[in-house]
Amino acid sequence: MKILAIESSCDETAIALIEARGGLGCPAFKIKKNAVISQVLIHSPYGGVVPNIAKREHAKNLPFLLKRVLGIDFCQKIDLLVVTVGPGLEPCLWEGINFANQAFQQIITCQKQKANRQKNSFTRLAGVNHLEGHLYSFLLSRKKTKFKFPAIHLLVSGGHTMLFLMRSLVDIEKLGETRDDAAGEAFDKVARMLKLPYPGGPEIEKIAKRGNPKSINFPRPMIYSKNFDLSFSGLKTSVFYYLRDLENKKIVKEQKKENKISQEEKANIAASFQRAAVDVLAHKTVQAVSKFEAKTVMISGGVAANKNFRSQFENFCKNLKIDFISAPIKFQTDNAVMIGIAAYINHLNNKKYELQARGGMSL
Ligand code: KG4
Ligand code: ZN
Repeated sequence: MKILAIESSCDETAIALIEARGGLGCPAFKIKKNAVISQVLIHSPYGGVVPNIAKREHAKNLPFLLKRVLGIDFCQKIDLLVVTVGPGLEPCLWEGINFANQAFQQIITCQKQKANRQKNSFTRLAGVNHLEGHLYSFLLSRKKTKFKFPAIHLLVSGGHTMLFLMRSLVDIEKLGETRDDAAGEAFDKVARMLKLPYPGGPEIEKIAKRGNPKSINFPRPMIYSKNFDLSFSGLKTSVFYYLRDLENKKIVKEQKKENKISQEEKANIAASFQRAAVDVLAHKTVQAVSKFEAKTVMISGGVAANKNFRSQFENFCKNLKIDFISAPIKFQTDNAVMIGIAAYINHLNNKKYELQARGGMSL
């Protein structure tokens, strides 16, 4: 099955063309084209994503990317055209959905003009849940072993932090989620406090390499709670107070109106914050592994691009003698390949979404 996938839920415009085969027991994918335009530099001066600017950029980028992926041949065999319908920024989601509708009409018109086409070979149009995109991205893992279930899956993105029990590819139970900020959001907010550019996650990771993760003992909220919910706002607030106290101390000591935090202090704060955030995520995941006797741990979402986080997870999986599965780093942040993959699994599972933008859609 050939799938053309469109993603525009936030600040990445992406279109991919993939080939999918196999049933739910052993799906396999081949990436034919993977095109992404990141709007990071455009939103960076504002310290976050500006929805109307993002929508305008998607409108500009989508036709360009479609040409890059399909060329001028709209008559080529495409079985499924899919687009993210939520969660995300609604103006951006609508931009993608309307564009998918237009592209669909063009493709169908072209296919109908080809007289020898069978009716059932026409392209179909479907919606996809962005979170399922992240969730199924593990199918892009380079490990060629068969995935062992039950698995504990941790999805950590800019808007979501969720822990799932996967009994199979399609039997998925949400065990818990963040009660306040998502992990990625906490990275972004702490980065902003440290006056680092947006998006903050990669910047925190970069400067944390030079810092001592044991230098500041930030709290690990809800780490010992009996459920699988998480919380990051307390950790973020304690970084805020730590910074405020540090600045105040300097002002008193050095009798200046303002004092800058040194690069070394910034690195220590970043490293200690990162350590606290990853500790909470790892602890909850290990608790779930033990409760459900999981054979595999999977991670996905933008924060799963963090190498420190990945290696801590890889290490505890090695110690527990269970598999660690995750897509390569470039498929953790938003892309359309994962949207195509989720669409294929939903197709096999007969799961459908309406072509309506739903900003607050969940899993
Ligand atoms: O999955 P994603 O691209 O978009 C959403 O669906 O939200 O995730 C974006 C989030 C941002 O908060 C970004 O700061 C974070 O992922 N992120 C990272 C890293 N790369 C991206 N967080 C920590 N370390 C990274 N290397
Ligand atoms: Zn995402």
